Amino acid sequence: MLGAFILAVSAPVLGTAYTWPAPQLDALEAARFDLPTTLSLGVDPCDSFFTTSSGRANVADWVRTAYHDMATYNSEDGTGGLDGSIRFTEEQSRPENAGDGFANTMPFVTLQASRYISIADSIALAAITAIESCGGPEIPFRGNRTDATHPNSPGVPEPQQDLDAHIASFKKQGFTKEEMIGLVACGHSFGGVQHAPFPDIVPEMNDPDNKESSQHFDSTFFTFDNNVATEYISGTTQNPLVVGLNDTTNSDKRIFGSDGNVTMQGFADSQDLFFSTCSALLARMLDTVPKETTLTDVITPLPVKPASVELQLDADKSTLKLSGLLRLWNTPADPTRSVRLLYADHTSANNGNYTLFPANPPSSTSVGNKYTSSWYWYNRTISGGIGALALDAEQGITSLSFVVDGKVEDQDGVGFKVEDGVVFSKSSCIKRDFKTARFDVAVRNSASPTRVYLEQIQVHSPDAPTVIEIDIPRPSSVDADSVYSIWSIELPLSIVQYHIGAEFLGSGGAVKYSTAAVYTTSGSVSGGLCPE
Ligand code: HEM
Ligand SMILES: *[C@@H]1O[C@H](CO)[C@@H](O)[C@H](O)[C@H]1NC(C)=O
Ligand SMILES: *[C@@H]1O[C@H](CO)[C@@H](O)[C@H](O)[C@H]1NC(C)=O
Ligand SMILES: *[C@@H]1O[C@H](CO)[C@@H](O)[C@H](O)[C@H]1NC(C)=O
Ligand SMILES: *[C@@H]1O[C@H](CO)[C@@H](O)[C@H](O)[C@H]1NC(C)=O
Ligand SMILES: *[C@@H]1O[C@H](CO)[C@@H](O)[C@H](O)[C@H]1NC(C)=O
Repeated sequence: MLGAFILAVSAPVLGTAYTWPAPQLDALEAARFDLPTTLSLGVDPCDSFFTTSSGRANVADWVRTAYHDMATYNSEDGTGGLDGSIRFTEEQSRPENAGDGFANTMPFVTLQASRYISIADSIALAAITAIESCGGPEIPFRGNRTDATHPNSPGVPEPQQDLDAHIASFKKQGFTKEEMIGLVACGHSFGGVQHAPFPDIVPEMNDPDNKESSQHFDSTFFTFDNNVATEYISGTTQNPLVVGLNDTTNSDKRIFGSDGNVTMQGFADSQDLFFSTCSALLARMLDTVPKETTLTDVITPLPVKPASVELQLDADKSTLKLSGLLRLWNTPADPTRSVRLLYADHTSANNGNYTLFPANPPSSTSVGNKYTSSWYWYNRTISGGIGALALDAEQGITSLSFVVDGKVEDQDGVGFKVEDGVVFSKSSCIKRDFKTARFDVAVRNSASPTRVYLEQIQVHSPDAPTVIEIDIPRPSSVDADSVYSIWSIELPLSIVQYHIGAEFLGSGGAVKYSTAAVYTTSGSVSGGLCPE
């Protein structure tokens, strides 16, 4: 009966006063911190690639993709930057973007993108996930990048250019010469140069363990570490942009030596310095965006985060079923912990007092397994699904709070707001023609939304998904015998997924709301056959 729950929901920013719920920040936080994600699975293990023994790794392609997308930035007029323009084949086919690493990165990035996460945000998340999952430092992440609608002007440096051209190129991107050395060393901790796109730099290797003939920048090509610097300084490096036979294309040699090796010596001496420098430079690289883009604050994990919170009204309108999850950040599962849920309804501020149950799985990890969070369900599960609490529909529910080992968690008294004004109604049913279904949405008589609609997510790769709204007609009268009235729409029986959406008139204009859960007319709308 419960809709298929989407876990890509819920979670805000700590430090700065950020209040749950905020769907976009919740989605960004979850993509950043609730592993596994599409992105983390693509770099686990760290030498993951499309084929085995290729000598290549997704981690390398993803970091190079982020740099090449950003490298079109022009600091003089604020155009270009990390805006997803690398997704266009026209940009990928330029000589400065030689190789198939960008095309290889796109499927992962588009799968992680959503109505709330742009392609550009997803590219930034991919680079961060790759580095954090494979040995590297934590990198601060901001979201809300806007995707370009056209390719950007060229601007990516190439290995045959001279040092002055590279200094000028990085200056245009907003980085000094020393920062250029750092950024190139950080990037070239992963991967290498392949024969196919660069036959004049790397020969065909005929190596069954390196089928794509990638000559690596260091001996640990899928681990983020300072070996790129230690091997360079010790003179043992095999970096093809340092020891290549044709000095014209030895760009790393010119760049690394351009300050008399001071920066590289520092990196070789200290992995900590390498990590802190890379973290700061890579964050700046990812935050180099077109001037019209407004980035969020750094996304940090919410210590106590509800997720997938959903309400459904029973067909007889007497009971609201509340289901959902709770995440305790950086708190490993512990069977002796007491976690309770309280809630406020329309008449009183303190209601319920339910013991929450460890979810299955009871924990998840973040940031390359550095942090473990525990998860709870609001009720025991019924046959593997997420359990629900039965609440009195008339009293409804306005916000949640939690008590963790005696400590109240309620966002400093605000509570975690829950919307009971527009909920899925279990009176939804399948028509007797077996071709259509009646989708019922219960609207609280006191809620007065200006519109109620179904949201259908439209995927149009390589762009980020968008939302289509299908308005549900307002019923001719309200049900005066109940606190809820039913709005209905007939739709084909199908596996198309819908969120329920509504628009309310807030003090600052129209405010949109959508449910965390998705419903399909063939699956979730199976309250039985509609009455004749
Ligand atoms: C003057 C600046 C740079 C030049 C000339 C340069 C050049 C190159 C070349 C020729 C390759 C081989 C690509 C292939 O075979 O597919 C490469 C790979 C790579 N570059 Fe750079 N690069 C520069 C800066 C950067 C920066 C700033 C980053 C990131 C912060 C970066 C990240 C990477 C990565 C991760 C790879 C490995 C890709 C793979 O193995 O598939 N590069 N670079
Ligand atoms: C070295 O590389 C440059 C740039 O690709 C090329 O123009 C030149 O012919 C190469 N030199 C030799 C000796 O192969
Ligand atoms: C930098 O270090 C490398 C490796 O020790 C050395 O070959 C090179 O000459 C040095 N470059 C400068 C400019 O000192
Ligand atoms: C996200 O960007 C849009 C414009 O593209 C802006 O209106 C909005 O305020 C930004 N959101 C945040 C949280 O900064
Ligand atoms: C909730 O129930 C627990 C266990 O019975 C009790 O210790 C606690 O005081 C109750 N909390 C509230 C707010 O009623
Ligand atoms: C939890 O779910 C069970 C099984 O559906 C139900 O019987 C019970 O009433 C629920 N608990 C509460 C407090 O609603």
